[in-house]
Amino acid sequence: MKLKKITVTGGAGYIGSLATRALLDRGYEVQVIDNLSRGHQWAVDKRAAFSKCDLLDRALLSKSLKSFQPEAVIHFAALIQVNESVNQPELYLRNNFEGSRNLLECMKENSISKIVFSSTAAVYGTPESIPIEEGEPLAPVNPYGESKAKTEQLLQHYCQNHQFAGTAFRYFNVAGAHPDGTLGEAHEPETHLIPKILEAARRGEPVKVFGNNYPTPDGTCVRDYVHVMDLVDAHLLALEHQISRKFEAFNLGSERGFSVLEVIRATEKVVGQKIAIEMNERRAGDPPVLIAQSTKATRILGWVRKYPDLSTMIEHALQWHRSCFKTRA
Ligand SMILES: NC(=O)c1ccc[n+]([C@@H]2O[C@H](COP(=O)([O-])OP(=O)(O)OC[C@H]3O[C@@H](n4cnc5c(N)ncnc54)[C@H](O)[C@@H]3O)[C@@H](O)[C@H]2O)c1
Repeated sequence: MKLKKITVTGGAGYIGSLATRALLDRGYEVQVIDNLSRGHQWAVDKRAAFSKCDLLDRALLSKSLKSFQPEAVIHFAALIQVNESVNQPELYLRNNFEGSRNLLECMKENSISKIVFSSTAAVYGTPESIPIEEGEPLAPVNPYGESKAKTEQLLQHYCQNHQFAGTAFRYFNVAGAHPDGTLGEAHEPETHLIPKILEAARRGEPVKVFGNNYPTPDGTCVRDYVHVMDLVDAHLLALEHQISRKFEAFNLGSERGFSVLEVIRATEKVVGQKIAIEMNERRAGDPPVLIAQSTKATRILGWVRKYPDLSTMIEHALQWHRSCFKTRA
């Protein structure tokens, strides 16, 4: 039976706003729950019901869910900056883990048992083998990754003990924007590589690279990039697939790695301009290589990526970057 009503937490943020739009475009009714601490009111789709609510405010959260009565929740809301989490670990455990626990409890109170949860490659820490398979032990090396790994474990308990159907997607590096260039990434501060390179190019400033002595072909870190619209598609597939009451974790990546220097060179080609580099020391806790094995999502959910090329992700991000800058300049 096709679901009709979905609550999206974090729907004022980058991935949540694009997921909300995709759900609405496909005929779902959507409620967005977001405290706007890091997201933007302008990013909340006008067609969605919006509840300005903090996941830590349990009474309001339960009331919001009760008023909308969704059949499932897609849970994007979180704080996402690794460096911030290292400096403020309690903030991350409270916001991401306690917030998720509240959400699961409120869902239980309101008899909602389907959830798709945004996890991250950071749950693997520095993995033993590459590409990383879902069976790799969870060994996060920073409080952000820890908050996500703990939430996955809790979700697993809800699936075992309270008959929840839970999907955890471990995203690798999410990139790109809506292909029409009207919605994309707007983190403040921005910590992700592609928007940072685009911003450096726009300002004619050098882009900071952290570490060139990693055991990788050019010495810079290697990451796996996945287009945000492909990521969103996986969530829609998961909603339709969640028939059995159990927990399942999937990697979402492209199974290909690009070094920081390769991403800068690819961006130069798309932008049509040379981009200078400022080389810095390594940052603590950056694993040299993170590449996903993503065949499980393809095998079980039928996930097929429409935008596998890095240059397409950069082009879409550039269109968004330009339109975003124009509107707010
Ligand atoms: N962007 C990536 O590359 C990436 C990679 C791996 C995992 N993820 C995960 O994907 C999810 C979405 O990431 P994003 O890039 O869209 O982040 P984002 O910061 O753009 O959006 C997160 C949203 O959650 C909201 N939020 C945070 N704490 C909240 C709370 N306590 N109550 C209510 N709302 C709250 C924020 O206001 C924001 O709108 C996160 O869970 C993140 O951990 C993202």
